[in-house]
Amino acid sequence: MPIVRDPSGLLRLGGVSLAEVVDRLGTPTYAYDVDAMAAGARELEASFEGTPHLVAYAVKANSAGGVVRALAAAGCGADVVSGAELRVALACGISPDRVIYNGVAKTDAELDAAIGAGGSGIAAVQVESVEEIARLEARAAAAGRTVRTGIRMNPNVDLRDVTHANIATGHDTAKFGVPRADVGHAVELLNASPHLVFVGIGAHAGSQCTATAKYVESARTVFDVARALRADGKARSLAYVNTGGGFAIDYTGDAPERPRPADFVRAIRAAKREAGLDDLASFVEPGRSLVAQHGLLLARVIQSKVSAAARWLMIDAGMNDLIRPALYQAKHRVVAVEAPSGSAETARWRVVGPVCESSDDFGEHVLPRAAPRTVAILDAGAYGFVMANQYNGRALPVEAFVSDGRIAASTQRRSPESWVAERVGAGA
Ligand code: LLP
Repeated sequence: MPIVRDPSGLLRLGGVSLAEVVDRLGTPTYAYDVDAMAAGARELEASFEGTPHLVAYAVKANSAGGVVRALAAAGCGADVVSGAELRVALACGISPDRVIYNGVAKTDAELDAAIGAGGSGIAAVQVESVEEIARLEARAAAAGRTVRTGIRMNPNVDLRDVTHANIATGHDTAKFGVPRADVGHAVELLNASPHLVFVGIGAHAGSQCTATAKYVESARTVFDVARALRADGKARSLAYVNTGGGFAIDYTGDAPERPRPADFVRAIRAAKREAGLDDLASFVEPGRSLVAQHGLLLARVIQSKVSAAARWLMIDAGMNDLIRPALYQAKHRVVAVEAPSGSAETARWRVVGPVCESSDDFGEHVLPRAAPRTVAILDAGAYGFVMANQYNGRALPVEAFVSDGRIAASTQRRSPESWVAERVGAGA
């Protein structure tokens, strides 16, 4: 169920009044519609039409157990980038053989955890450098296990013209992935490593990719390399090609023509068929596109400040709670939770948080001229809570999980006292 305004003017998420969430849990609070997240995952699953695949949900986007469990129940595996995320995925019931692990600098302890998971380790450790291969072989030998290994290569596809530079990862000066020119060498090393078996090749060109053509361009580089390696007899155990995550969502709310995750999948399935790789499984690693639009951040208005320069609306959520506007100049829509009583007059408000930084700024928004009491910052289900921090001594926001038309679960708000005690104690 989407985010809707009911006839009495109240904003609802998954059938639950957001004013009620604020009354019960206070602010700042993230609220997620986990049923809608699961429905999106099922739609993506269906777009593979029974062909071999793995939707490896990028846990980094939203690692809350309530979210990970719902997506797992809808058929997702997991893409993790740290030992801690690996533990979350496994503890949420995702089978190790449905987990892949990316990361440019995995520690030995993290490699050991991936190698040691379950009866035979995870689906694939994806190496991101030639240098990582010897390290992985040494850890595999120490554990006495054979490790399914994938190569995340750098496709040298530059997404900086379609997304923010900070979230483009596929150009050859980015730190991510085995450089394309080194993939042949990496495969030789892998094939010569007695405890490693080369099972997959992939790329992730970047995040918030708005164009299927760019995604397919990155996928084609993967398919070309896979085909060439097979032709040379160097990839006999190859089981999957992985085209990564990065499917964009529409943060503006008025770009209905934007491709849906299933459109990306259809496009890469066609390219994969053309490349003659239909027998290999297709892996994708979506994060944002499964969770962003089904989460929002609730904040109370602390006060307004009207000057000659601007009408400021000062809210109790800041860049520590949602850092995307500060870090990527992202614009998230801000809407009033309760429709104004009386006058419907609107004004341009500059919505800002309480943190002592100029970049603690959610941008200009059209809202009721009479300052609303509570606002919702939309599309905050991905890279919201997971990037939150305690700068300025601010407690982490609370999370509420909406399912079956009710608040099914919520987290506890920590009192600022714990932060105070920790800081006072530091260095004592
Ligand atoms: N796979 C890999 C290897 C990744 O590095 C990422 C994201 C994903 C998959 C998932 O990408 P998604 O489908 O969510 O776009 N904090 C930034 C996004 C950073 C993405 C990092 N990697 C933001 O808020 O926009």
